[in-house]
Amino acid sequence: MNYVVVGGSHGIGQGIVHRLLHTGAAVTVLSRTIDSADVAAGVKHVQADVTKDEIQAEQLPSEIAGLAYCPGSINLGPLRQLKLEAMVEDFQLNAVGAVKCLQAALPAMKAAGNSAMVLFSTVAVGQGMPMHTSVAAAKGAVEGLTRSLAAELAPTVRVNCIAPALTATPLAARFLSSDQKRAAMAEKYPLRRVGEVHDIAAMAEYLLSPQATWITGQIIGVDGGMSTLRL
Ligand SMILES: NC(=O)c1ccc[n+]([C@@H]2O[C@H](COP(=O)([O-])OP(=O)(O)OC[C@H]3O[C@@H](n4cnc5c(N)ncnc54)[C@H](OP(=O)(O)O)[C@@H]3O)[C@@H](O)[C@H]2O)c1
Repeated sequence: MNYVVVGGSHGIGQGIVHRLLHTGAAVTVLSRTIDSADVAAGVKHVQADVTKDEIQAEQLPSEIAGLAYCPGSINLGPLRQLKLEAMVEDFQLNAVGAVKCLQAALPAMKAAGNSAMVLFSTVAVGQGMPMHTSVAAAKGAVEGLTRSLAAELAPTVRVNCIAPALTATPLAARFLSSDQKRAAMAEKYPLRRVGEVHDIAAMAEYLLSPQATWITGQIIGVDGGMSTLRL
């Protein structure tokens, strides 16, 4: 089976790639850069910037069993410092890029018979958090996209979304750059730790798999309990 992981060169996306390779699947990664070890392990790389480049169906496999869209941002700050251009960029990367990639992949996803897409939101959409204006707005759009696309593409293509909390990846490195920071962050979670790539990638692998064929239109929190439990 062929899978496409947009943003599979590091972080959660790379974790998804490694899990899919382990199942024997063929994986195409679309990103600006790639880890040479992943190319050596058989990953096909399509170099593209989803905010600038056109994505062509011909760059992707002719049948696609699953598509994960992983590019995203965590731009935080107070409203008074929020640059509107930065807000538009967040929307482009998180929401418009996902639609662009799905448009290119959809014929091949339909050709596969049953296919699935996974998108990424954040715990900060369901809970109001100060300083999160731009990312919460962009990811709120992703959650709306998830439900709308799931309705439009049923029953052929399932569309689901994972809403993680803080997860140790290059994107979140500045929040976890010392043992003290990591310990302080862990204290905010009912399960007393921040997320690791495998926590999130395991859910994505499941949602993309034939085991999840009755799940669509869902926003699934993988967040150490933060979205629903009070400490
Ligand atoms: N980590 C967290 O704490 C956290 C929390 C909540 C939600 N999330 C969400 O979870 C998703 C994955 O996050 P992550 O932490 O794994 O992110 P990450 O470490 O920044 O990885 C993002 C991936 O997307 C690719 N990418 C970024 N911009 C791109 C562009 N313009 N064109 C093409 N590819 C691009 C990157 O590859 P290249 O640099 O090679 O292009 C990389 O492979 C994101 O949507 C994020 O918002 C993460």
